[in-house]
Amino acid sequence: RKDLLSLTHLSADDISLILETADSFKEVSGREIKKVPALRGKTVVNLFFEPSTRTRTSFELAAKRLSADVINFSPSSSSVVKGETLLDTARNIEAMQADIIVLRHSSAGAAETLARGVKSSVINAGDGWHEHPTQALLDLYTIRSRGMGFAGLRVAIVGDVAHSRVARSNIFALTKLGAEVRVVGPPTMIPLHISQLGVRVYHNLDEGLRGVHVIMMLRLQLERQGRALFPTIREYARQYGLTGDRVKLAEPGAIVMHPGPINRGVEIAPDVADSLSSVILDQVANGVAVRMGILYLMSGAG
Ligand code: CP
Repeated sequence: RKDLLSLTHLSADDISLILETADSFKEVSGREIKKVPALRGKTVVNLFFEPSTRTRTSFELAAKRLSADVINFSPSSSSVVKGETLLDTARNIEAMQADIIVLRHSSAGAAETLARGVKSSVINAGDGWHEHPTQALLDLYTIRSRGMGFAGLRVAIVGDVAHSRVARSNIFALTKLGAEVRVVGPPTMIPLHISQLGVRVYHNLDEGLRGVHVIMMLRLQLERQGRALFPTIREYARQYGLTGDRVKLAEPGAIVMHPGPINRGVEIAPDVADSLSSVILDQVANGVAVRMGILYLMSGAG
């Protein structure tokens, strides 16, 4: 497969292969082994048109631990500011022999457009409200690393689902693997026809959390909201903020996830984010191994 654009394109077997390949890189990602030469001679370009802490850094670390050359392209200090298009930018990067382009962009469909226009492999590192496939894959890896199987797993995805590319990719993957997915949030933040994706909709957080094995909190994406946020941040925090008491409604041993960055005190109470139930930093750590697996498989090195 040339590109990784969406989890709708992957089968359950494809997903298993990525998770198993990530397993084989876990020791390298955790620095027990320093580096492997799998991608020596390959070039990975990080092309991020939106801010990122976790995704950009972990792609860079993943590529370096596979011995690839890595270029972090910064649009704000490039000829993009003179009006050069995404496609022209990428074609120029490709002309310098980029094997894999990792793209983050504010427009849904940007990664697909780019993939059609270049011969390099393209990895979607988040395109607008559309998808964030590598985030969902590292989320699956984290769930699996806690000894949970996917068939029959009850997962509540809570919050600003309408603006969440993380939610969409997780819904595609989790339903494909046989999990029962609930989406929980105010009607203003849940897309109207989302039940067509095979999920159950809850507007009451306590009801949505009852008996779940995984609580996946989403960031309230203030930068993507319209002018008048409804409910207000204060109302939202009261009705949909995850507190320690609410975690107790889930199954004993349930885990709390969040893709980051977190708004402490808005969608999640600080003590919950830092609690033993929280696997938020495990998600970040696992991101390196999972992205190593993805880069390895896409480079053809395997
Ligand atoms: N989860 C995630 O995509 O985080 P960043 O925006 O920091 O990359």
